[in-house]
Amino acid sequence: MELLKQRIRKDGTVKGNDVLKVDSFLNHQMDVALFEEIGKEFKRLYEGCGVNKILTIEASGIGIACVTAQSFHCPVVFAKKSQSKNIDGAVYATKVQSFTHGKIYDVIVSKKFLGPEDKVLIIDDFLANGAALEGLIDLVRQAGATLVGAGIVVEKAFQPGGDRLRAQGIRVESLARVKSMSEETGVVFVDD
Ligand code: G4P
Ligand code: NA
Ligand code: NA
Repeated sequence: MELLKQRIRKDGTVKGNDVLKVDSFLNHQMDVALFEEIGKEFKRLYEGCGVNKILTIEASGIGIACVTAQSFHCPVVFAKKSQSKNIDGAVYATKVQSFTHGKIYDVIVSKKFLGPEDKVLIIDDFLANGAALEGLIDLVRQAGATLVGAGIVVEKAFQPGGDRLRAQGIRVESLARVKSMSEETGVVFVDD
């Protein structure tokens, strides 16, 4: 998505060799006009797939997911990062290992809000190692719902998550795919 790549080039900053800061428009301050264009692009990509629910994970996926849901006229469910002690039979639960933060956390969704009748589009802001996305996919499977695919704003294509999921036959659409980055060169996209 050209508009998004332009914005990343203009306002994104690289920290070290593997962290892209986009907090002026994507995941801290949020440019809702840009979000609207992102939502329309996901709608274009997944038009006709019968999506009737959008699933994301707190916190930074929620804004994008909500704006995207307006294009699909469907609800958003966000999976919650939870303490194990709160988990009971009323929720689907899975474990996610965060490589960035080096810890394992539980992720839950109430059984009330995901079930076999759902055709789910997963939305998230970043895809890196894919642990968060794999956790969400596990929740969809537990619910007996249909996974339509995933819509990602920024994929760090030099990390293994996206390709591993595509190799499993999962449809992953990323609006900006970063091939490499460094403080010296800035961001290089896969299709530059
Ligand atoms: P993975 O889920 O793809 O395996 O990624 P990883 O564990 O490495 O990432 C942990 C968190 O860091 C995720 O947010 C992810 O969205 C975010 N992240 C990964 N790479 C980048 C990056 O280059 N830039 C930015 N800005 N974020 C990145 P989270 O733990 O779910 O937290 P939240 O921010 O959504 O609350
Ligand atoms: Na994040
Ligand atoms: Na996120």
